[in-house]
Amino acid sequence: MAIYGAIPVLYAHGLKHTVGIFWHNVAETWIDINNTENRVDTHFMSESGVVDMFILMGPTFADTVKQYTALTGTAPIPQIFSLGYHQCRWNYNDETDVINVVDNFDQGDFPVDFVWLDIEYTDGKKYFTWDPIRFKHPLEMQQNMTATGRKLIVIIDPHVKREAGYFLHEDALSNDYYIKTKDGNVYEGWCWPGASSYLDLLNPIVANYYSELYSLDKFKGSADSMYIWNDMNEPSVFNGPEITMPKDCLHHGGWEHRHIHNIYGHYYTKITYDGLLKRTPNTRPFILTRAFFAGSQRHTAMWTGDNAAEWSHLAISLPMCLSMAVAGHSFCGADIGGFFNNPDTELLQRWYQAGAWLPFYRSHAHIDTKRREPYLFEQDVQTRIRNALRLRYAHLPVWYTLFWEHSKTAEPVIRPLIYQYPDDANVLDIDNQLLIGSSILVRPVVESRVSTVNVYFPGGAPQVWYDIEDWRPYHGNGAASIPVTMDKVPVYYRGGSIIPRKDRPRRAASLMHDDPYTLYVVLDGNNSASGTLYTDDGHTFAYRNKEYLYVQFKFKDNTLTSSIIDKDAHFSSREWVERVVVVNPPRGIKHADIKSKSLGTLKLETSYTNDERSLVVRKPGVSVQEEFTITLV
Ligand code: NOJ
Repeated sequence: MAIYGAIPVLYAHGLKHTVGIFWHNVAETWIDINNTENRVDTHFMSESGVVDMFILMGPTFADTVKQYTALTGTAPIPQIFSLGYHQCRWNYNDETDVINVVDNFDQGDFPVDFVWLDIEYTDGKKYFTWDPIRFKHPLEMQQNMTATGRKLIVIIDPHVKREAGYFLHEDALSNDYYIKTKDGNVYEGWCWPGASSYLDLLNPIVANYYSELYSLDKFKGSADSMYIWNDMNEPSVFNGPEITMPKDCLHHGGWEHRHIHNIYGHYYTKITYDGLLKRTPNTRPFILTRAFFAGSQRHTAMWTGDNAAEWSHLAISLPMCLSMAVAGHSFCGADIGGFFNNPDTELLQRWYQAGAWLPFYRSHAHIDTKRREPYLFEQDVQTRIRNALRLRYAHLPVWYTLFWEHSKTAEPVIRPLIYQYPDDANVLDIDNQLLIGSSILVRPVVESRVSTVNVYFPGGAPQVWYDIEDWRPYHGNGAASIPVTMDKVPVYYRGGSIIPRKDRPRRAASLMHDDPYTLYVVLDGNNSASGTLYTDDGHTFAYRNKEYLYVQFKFKDNTLTSSIIDKDAHFSSREWVERVVVVNPPRGIKHADIKSKSLGTLKLETSYTNDERSLVVRKPGVSVQEEFTITLV
């Protein structure tokens, strides 16, 4: 049952062919899937609307996803910081609490980019206001945060408190902006503030009014670096039928709520997106939403809503986000630790380790739970959480490049194995493993107290996967039982890939911008590999004016070559290549020669590590802006 969001797309996959259906209907919709021995029947039931159905002809899984995305759009590249770690809780109590959280992250050396405020920051659940006592100096608080490279995200919900004197309620009443009952009175429901009404977002005048509330002069106390969390936007109405608005409520244009129910939340985030763009036109908005529809990927990240601190909820976060990704919406995550109840430290650690491999990485907790910021635990727990966070930050260039490529090609950022290996019957029902792009295979540990997990290595025998901790090889010919400890998560790089990383630990993504890269060149059986790297200023729209760098790396005949893919794009980057790690290297290498326009030809030191499983090329020192070759000699 889709409480929060619905993307009415369905794929039918056989080993030779994939097809799909996009059921373009914004009323509440049910789809029955009936599996019998030799056939699958699906039955689409929408509460109202017309039959407007797209058949996606494939023939491959990837083609089908692209056909769907051609109809609904891709996500624009997000701010790179939003791919870092987010620390949230319902609620941080006051300004001092927020600043202390940031300080404690610093003292414990845990990277974090955003701290979040839930509904208690407002003055009595009136959105676009601040609690006058606990959040008296919101701008000062945010300045303190930005001084350390961190930023704030606050929640804005769609229910409007019906309180005399509240500007939003007064404006909505006097301008007739509210949704009506079937009798034409303003609809009144019940949510966090108590008696609430809901803006009629289908009315363009209301949409415009609401989006302008995000401007800095209207939302007093907000800084231009502050971003928005839209919650309860299904809309959630505590005393409504099915916890939402009665279906006979009336919207602009005479539409009953039943006709548009599934797209209300989407409109809500689009308005936020427009509002943030009006506020800071040259900065990419960041929004997180609970409600979504087909196409919401163009405006917002989403999370899977109220889960609980249970192993099964950790496990299900993978198939949930993988489904979202193939349904066009890659920017997905689940509340780390579980929203309801208190995770024990084993579950919490495993959740941090698994969450590091989903696109949106945020810890969140219900107001009745114990505090669980990473610095509150025993040293060994802290170390594992820190390691998970650092591994995430080291891979930010990979995430960022994949989001760029998604925006251009519609390829999902995370992928189920079936997407990449559609003709392998063994992967059809694997949903506890995922691929980050096509090059990183992850099997998060989502079971308690296990000492081994089964990992399926796809691609057939010639395909080798390398454990990223010790570069041990695993052939792509099926399942293997892999020993795990609390420190171990099975993560592999695909032989044949080149993975750009930033391995210097920092406190935030915002502080890593100019850091150097380590290129992991993982050679396949033919001693070759390839990969890409995208970089730009990380947060503005300058990339639309071709201010970016998109680089292709190729390794062949013992030579690593970098070449600029989009020759008409330019970005004066200070990033450089600090190290090259060649995994599965050729034997007998004594040194390397680097050649580039500005360096000429230089000799570089090399050394083998780990039983010759890898070879490190030291300090190429070349800017990523420059094309170069490095030859192993
Ligand atoms: C419901 C959301 O799903 C949850 O994340 C949030 O903390 C509460 N609303 C309170 O705003």
